[in-house]
Amino acid sequence: MSPREISLGPPQFLPRRGFVTLPIVPAHRLPDGTRAAGAILGRVDGKLVAFANVCRHLAIPLDYGDGDVTDGDDDSLICHHHGARFDPRDGECTAGPCHREFLWRFRVVEGVDEATLIVGHEADDAPAPKP
Ligand code: FES
Repeated sequence: MSPREISLGPPQFLPRRGFVTLPIVPAHRLPDGTRAAGAILGRVDGKLVAFANVCRHLAIPLDYGDGDVTDGDDDSLICHHHGARFDPRDGECTAGPCHREFLWRFRVVEGVDEATLIVGHEADDAPAPKP
């Protein structure tokens, strides 16, 4: 699978804090066969991070279609279906039914004039558990 680059536009229009969801059209097929129709994009310590908007408990989006993937603060991502919590730095599930699994990660490149979401980059396709 070759990586696909999706322009996110000028970085100044991207979130300075918190998280947003965005569609991936057509959907991206993850290494386990799950289709990711959306991504979660946010900043952690000033750096853009992105994950597939696919829970590791059941292969459904973390939100109810309203883009809400946090618990009201910026400290963790949450799946609103069964309450799994994910570390926004690396996508690790820190509590809930998929404990110790990781959200699928996407690469984000932030240039001066444009940010780019890269899906299907082989280095990002296999989130490894922490040692
Ligand atoms: S589907 Fe996400 S916690 Fe169950």
